[in-house]
Amino acid sequence: MCGIVGAVAQRNVQNILLEGLRRLEYRGYDSAGMAVCAAQGGLQRRRALGKVAALAARLEAEPLTGHSGIAHTRWATHGRPSEANAHPHQSGDRLSVVHNGIIENHEALRHALERDGYVFDSETDTEVIAHLLDREARGAGDLLAAVQRVLAALDGAYALGVVHADEPDTVIGARKGSPLVVGVGIDEAFLASDPLALLQVTDRFIYLDEGDVVRLSGKGRIEIVDARGQAVEREVQTFEHGDGAASKGSYRHFMLKEIHEQPAVIAAALEGRLGDHGVLVESFGPEAAELFARVKQVHIVACGTSYHAGMVARYWLERYTGVPVQVEVASEYRYRQVVVPEGTLFVTLSQSGETADTLAALRFARERGYLASLAICNVPGSSLVRESDLTLMTQAGPEIGVASTKAFTTQLTALMLLTLALGRIKGLAAAEQSALVEALRGLPGLVDRVLALDGMVETLSGAFAEKHHALFLGRGAHFPIALEGALKLKEISYIHAEAYPAGELKHGPLALVDSEMPVISVAPNDELLDKLKSNLQEVRARGGELFVFADEGVGLSDGEGVHVLHLPHVHEALAPILYTVPLQLLSYHVAVLKGTDVDQPRNLAKSVTVE
Ligand code: G6P
Repeated sequence: MCGIVGAVAQRNVQNILLEGLRRLEYRGYDSAGMAVCAAQGGLQRRRALGKVAALAARLEAEPLTGHSGIAHTRWATHGRPSEANAHPHQSGDRLSVVHNGIIENHEALRHALERDGYVFDSETDTEVIAHLLDREARGAGDLLAAVQRVLAALDGAYALGVVHADEPDTVIGARKGSPLVVGVGIDEAFLASDPLALLQVTDRFIYLDEGDVVRLSGKGRIEIVDARGQAVEREVQTFEHGDGAASKGSYRHFMLKEIHEQPAVIAAALEGRLGDHGVLVESFGPEAAELFARVKQVHIVACGTSYHAGMVARYWLERYTGVPVQVEVASEYRYRQVVVPEGTLFVTLSQSGETADTLAALRFARERGYLASLAICNVPGSSLVRESDLTLMTQAGPEIGVASTKAFTTQLTALMLLTLALGRIKGLAAAEQSALVEALRGLPGLVDRVLALDGMVETLSGAFAEKHHALFLGRGAHFPIALEGALKLKEISYIHAEAYPAGELKHGPLALVDSEMPVISVAPNDELLDKLKSNLQEVRARGGELFVFADEGVGLSDGEGVHVLHLPHVHEALAPILYTVPLQLLSYHVAVLKGTDVDQPRNLAKSVTVE
């Protein structure tokens, strides 16, 4: 997804902007560009199709020098990936704009501008902003006021960065519907769509509000006006996660590093939230206890991997709290005539807190008479967090690999905390609460033991490298884990993978099973084990090769065409978290064997901030 970086600094800004773009690469993009108010006057721009490295090579040949500038990584929405469509966009040669999001009325604006004689160089919606601004800025002498007038004409969602040769040493930023933060330096100021992009220059940030416009100027001056045009002060917050998360360390890929971080981040997600016998309900906020007591239903809405976490939570919440639960993907939910029974808690799950569909679902839900909204999210200060009544941070730290790993297992951990908090209020037996709390405390250690099986999973992965399809099976709360396993495999190795509840096998997918279709299954020691074993027999009888991740006590072992990897015994309720880990490792090793771009798979983005 698109990324923005901007800077007004004492030093030359080229390398600050370039490093910022590198740090945003994880979001997925197709081209990159930069514009700087040149030291000798005027504006200079460099753009390149493809990776940030291509832009860096161009800058090496033709460097930029100046104290203010903007830069961008683009993920195509209007117009194909090309250098002409890459940002920054200009009107004439004195002003440049970078933009995340979508301008919905761009066609009408474009026609009007063309009638006025403006000539467009790109197919993007962004270029209308540049020309509108050119018109508004002419002779106006105040770039911020000109930006405000342009914003009034725009429908849609955006974050913007603007520079103008007439006001060197100034960067204007604006946000409505897309995230934008100001980085506070020492006599320097920065702008970015994600604080990660700026951690090399500052750890102090101002999270802009909806409708804010900001002017960064010399000596680190930061002026913010809100949606009503009033000058406002916003709190400066210190970024909580260290910069270490933005580097791979000794790992070959971010994804592998993040898989291995899971014992630590699951422990972080539990920290301060477990009492001796139950979950501390206040972890969800001061009003949580009172609100949870009134919960009669739960609606969970999310996208992608986060949606799979929601599906697991349905099994948990219904089993341990007796509260009925609906789970839905946000892009469907937001366009449905949803019926909201009295006393319904609305829960969103999101790693980024900026996913456009999830955010739109929350805004839609706020008009529908829900009891309250709860965001389970990994990014403090994100839009979802700021717009929800209650929040629980997952504490996974920055996740860079596009394929979500530690964000998912910490979401599950947080959802188990929600289950226990609601359960506590709804009368879940004290012994069950204590057993689950104890099991949660032991979970990081068990995940560590599963990670120690990495070499064995790597050996198994060899069987997949030449395959074109794979089938994942699970039952109960492990059906969503099978879905997540299949999603991981297709995202990063491009192998077509499907997941089914094992009981559905004979209603269709069994027709696909032959020696070319590996079947992966998770078999924890739960009440559905015997049923799962018969499903696996059905696969073997059709010549399908089986890969089973099984509890050490279930009596499944290697045989002809059957490969079994034993996992340590875990409390039945927490098995979905533990059994996720070998599936992540399997996808990772298959992708490495296939030589794909593991951390930035083709066509995908980390944070999908457009619909
Ligand atoms: C994108 C990412 C997925 C992620 C989904 C939802 O598709 O590639 O990994 O699960 O968005 O993102 P969120 O930040 O809302 O969890």
